[in-house]
Amino acid sequence: MELSTQTKQICKATAPAVKEHGEAITTRMYEILFETYPKTKALFDGAPADQNKKLAAAIAVYASNIDDLAVLDTAVEAMAQRHVKTNVKPEHYPMVGTALLQAIKDVLGEAATDEVIEAWKEAYFFLGDILIAREEKIRAA
Ligand code: HEM
Repeated sequence: MELSTQTKQICKATAPAVKEHGEAITTRMYEILFETYPKTKALFDGAPADQNKKLAAAIAVYASNIDDLAVLDTAVEAMAQRHVKTNVKPEHYPMVGTALLQAIKDVLGEAATDEVIEAWKEAYFFLGDILIAREEKIRAA
């Protein structure tokens, strides 16, 4: 399935704000994630201190390239390899998604209208499905 033109437009329009507040959003996201789903904390045991910057950067790059996701192939491969090594599973994606969307709301405040959140939700799970599929292939290989 393709992302709708409207979803892409909203993500692109809000990408600068998400990028500008990228670190605040991801810091808040991990706070919510570990509070709501404490079991996910162990997955990050070996993670570098700048892990939150990596996720913020990945989200910013993704939003900027939402019209041409092929640009992201190399990045997707690196993420998928890392996820498999650290035991990230498909069931973790909704947990991170929920935490991320709430974090965007918390940090962007009124700018995060229902429409904006819905667009980011679609975009997150679109990328999530790509990663899940690739990770399943890597695990099976
Ligand atoms: C669309 C969703 C996601 C994006 C964009 C994303 C992005 C990233 C990126 C950019 C990295 C660093 C890869 C590298 O080192 O080259 C990473 C690593 C990682 N991610 Fe994700 N991720 C997503 C979903 C998830 C989920 C659902 C989990 C599960 C809680 C998760 C847990 C991790 C862990 C544990 C690492 C490795 C940390 C380490 O270096 O030890 N990610 N992710």
